Amino acid sequence: MTEKAISRRDLIVNTGKLAAGAALLTATGKVLSPSPAAAYKVTGATLKYVKLDPETVGQVTYENYFKRWCASSVIAGMVEELKKKAGGGWKDFPIDAYRWMHGGMAGWGALCGTMPGAGVIIGLVTGDTDIAEAMTNDLAFYYSYNELPSFTPKKILKSEIKHMTIAGTPVCHISVGRWMRAEGAGFLTDARAERCARLAANIAIYTTEMLNDWADGKYRPKHSPLYNVVANGITSQNNCRDCHGSYTPTPNETYSTLEK
Ligand code: HEC
Repeated sequence: MTEKAISRRDLIVNTGKLAAGAALLTATGKVLSPSPAAAYKVTGATLKYVKLDPETVGQVTYENYFKRWCASSVIAGMVEELKKKAGGGWKDFPIDAYRWMHGGMAGWGALCGTMPGAGVIIGLVTGDTDIAEAMTNDLAFYYSYNELPSFTPKKILKSEIKHMTIAGTPVCHISVGRWMRAEGAGFLTDARAERCARLAANIAIYTTEMLNDWADGKYRPKHSPLYNVVANGITSQNNCRDCHGSYTPTPNETYSTLEK
């Protein structure tokens, strides 16, 4: 292993301490401000939010999963309730326009579809890119570092399941794979579908709670953004070894804009 690789690993290990700070020190000692862009107001959105009952949203999401999968079931859970309570543009909201996000995008196992599904609603409701960024960041932390699924349906539609697992990542196939290994269940089973349906409900509930707080003017971000691109050389969590084992490749380090 080269000197460079060792120092990079040290940086990765130390990134957690830096993440909470207001500014980051780069590897070459320069300070990088963590404010990439000013808030952008989303215009043209006429979708009004009214506070919803999180448990009801969770239950509707759960029921929708078995015909719509993760992303569109979270959207359906929120939109079906908003149709009733707020009406307006929600009445003809295209719930299934986002169905392709399922399974980490058309089954590619990338980002779990529950979060981009929720993010669509968050972005349209808040109409503010900074708030949407903070909420989806909180959502990724919630998803990655809690034992899930903890949602209990009123009536079990597919299967009893025994396990909750910590995904450690927002990545679909890692998250579902860790749960399958704990449960001893295959992918094409009722148990796996049940798990993802309950997980979708959890994400819809957490999103509803954040939006309810926001509607009351009480939403405050719980987590700092990752802002670790300088330490890691690439945007990500600090879990390089989850996927790369001990041979994490080093990205090129050319920050010409920082030299000015
Ligand atoms: C969720 C899994 C995952 C995590 C976590 C992850 N990577 Fe990757 N990374 C990949 C995959 C998949 C590729 C593509 C590999 C390929 O095509 O062979 C990749 C490619 C790369 C590449 C391109 C180099 C190449 O030879 O393809 C770099 C550089 C890299 N990762 C760095 C990192 C670093 C640094 C971290 C941690 C800060 C990290 N990755 C975390 C999945 C991951």
